[in-house]
Amino acid sequence: MTLPRLAEKRRMREPIVMVTAYDYPSAQVAQEAGVDVVLVGDSGAMTVLGHPSTIPVTVEEMLMLAAATRRGLRTPLLVADLPFGSYEASDELAIATAQRFVKEAGCDAVKLERGGASARRARAIVDAGIPVMGHVGLTPQTATALGGYRAQGRTAEQALSVAREALELERAGCFSIVLEAVPAAVGSEITARSSVPVIGIGAGPDTDGQVLVFHDLLGIHDGHVARFAKRFADVRAHMVAGVAEYTAEVRGRSFPAPEHCYSIDEAELETFRALIG
Ligand code: KIV
Repeated sequence: MTLPRLAEKRRMREPIVMVTAYDYPSAQVAQEAGVDVVLVGDSGAMTVLGHPSTIPVTVEEMLMLAAATRRGLRTPLLVADLPFGSYEASDELAIATAQRFVKEAGCDAVKLERGGASARRARAIVDAGIPVMGHVGLTPQTATALGGYRAQGRTAEQALSVAREALELERAGCFSIVLEAVPAAVGSEITARSSVPVIGIGAGPDTDGQVLVFHDLLGIHDGHVARFAKRFADVRAHMVAGVAEYTAEVRGRSFPAPEHCYSIDEAELETFRALIG
């Protein structure tokens, strides 16, 4: 997937499919399923590292997740989140962090949250030759300032502020915008006014594409799941059942069975016994 092809998909009204992945096997699943864009989201702080929010994840941790994801992908565009604290302070910091994701993890693009100062950082990164995806609406890195993990843009004034941030990021050169947790009608209006692909998550059916968190859509974790995160599978139940069966078989001495064991020639075994004493 390329940036021109993504833009073409928007023009042709072909829905863009994006999913998060955090490691080699989840990337391989995304690859085989034929998605267009894979995001190494800082949601990985919660889904794979067990933190209560996206805030604690470090650049080093995100780089490790992104590099593993890269190894499982061939065709989708690979985007990684710049984690909280890794780009806000200056253009220089933003460029240096973004370069690490391209150089050390093989990412095609990076994503950052909000307009305002972030839009200026987005411009600096784009000017340094790295494609940037923006993220507006519910922006988890600043969820506290937004009043928690709740839908945004539910008043005219709030909706206008989300639309303005999207426009700022677009003007800063972002090739696409993630729009999270806004009323469907607001998602529709913002998408209609955007000139780059808008990828929605809890932003209704009229955005140019959809993104979901891998662990939410597959039912891999048992924590709170947002209203917009449809579960397409219950993988966690299968995982627990599998490990529970393994546990029972080990305790019942029915695993390993002969077909799981290696054999040795009887003469070799006799010699070994003699040698070992
Ligand atoms: O971190 C993440 O997974 C994200 C998606 C929710 C878009 O930013």
